Amino acid sequence: MNPILVALDVSMASDARRLADTLGDSVGGLKIGFQLFTAVGPSIVREMVESGHRVFLDLKFHDIPNTVAGAVAAATDLGVWMVNVHAAGGPAMLAAARDAAAERAAALGRPKPLVIAVTVLTSMDATALAAVGVSRSPLDQVVHLATMAKECGLDGVVASPQETAAIRGACGKDFVIVTPGIRGGAATAAKADDQSRIATPAGAMAAGSSYLVVGRPITAAQDPRAAAQAILAEIRTSDV
Ligand code: C5P
Repeated sequence: MNPILVALDVSMASDARRLADTLGDSVGGLKIGFQLFTAVGPSIVREMVESGHRVFLDLKFHDIPNTVAGAVAAATDLGVWMVNVHAAGGPAMLAAARDAAAERAAALGRPKPLVIAVTVLTSMDATALAAVGVSRSPLDQVVHLATMAKECGLDGVVASPQETAAIRGACGKDFVIVTPGIRGGAATAAKADDQSRIATPAGAMAAGSSYLVVGRPITAAQDPRAAAQAILAEIRTSDV
């Protein structure tokens, strides 16, 4: 499948619709995060799902297990393809998220959404981790949390390109790794912006990513569809 998930980081339904329509099958899915969800609400998720798009609902749930289970069940009702939670919520919260997705999907007679975990936010460095009481290096903490997520039955994690190879090694070939921070190569339409741990589309795939989250290199391009197609071409060329 097309591994590009485009980040619809816009605040208006009309902008989200225009991007989704323009991109069509040049991307493999749409990522809806805090900005669009908070501005427009769940109706935009339903609309994109009903239009046939695969939706990754990126709301990074992190709360007590019962509350997260309710949120994941609600996301499953919306028909999302992928949803995420914070691994730092711990094993009971991860298990509750996993079970809620499976049970609600079974009740609806639909495929279960992929439930993946955010490990360490890419904005956190060793100093920031120490400030919240974590003495491991960011990479060790990422691999620790990814392994925990896998043991709790989650489908995968979100991780920076720098961490992808270590996670792939620790968690095996079937574990889903979703990678943001895609810049350079065919994704040169945008500068690094605020991303610091970056990789080219082909570089991230070579490191073992399953899906690439790409925002501004596509959404801020003059021709978003052409930008997505160029990224896909880079991935496919480096594949052979
Ligand atoms: O525009 P850009 O390609 O930088 O967008 C990346 C997307 O991935 C944004 O929606 C951002 O919130 C998300 N993301 C990220 N780094 C993470 C997790 C999510 O950039 N660690």
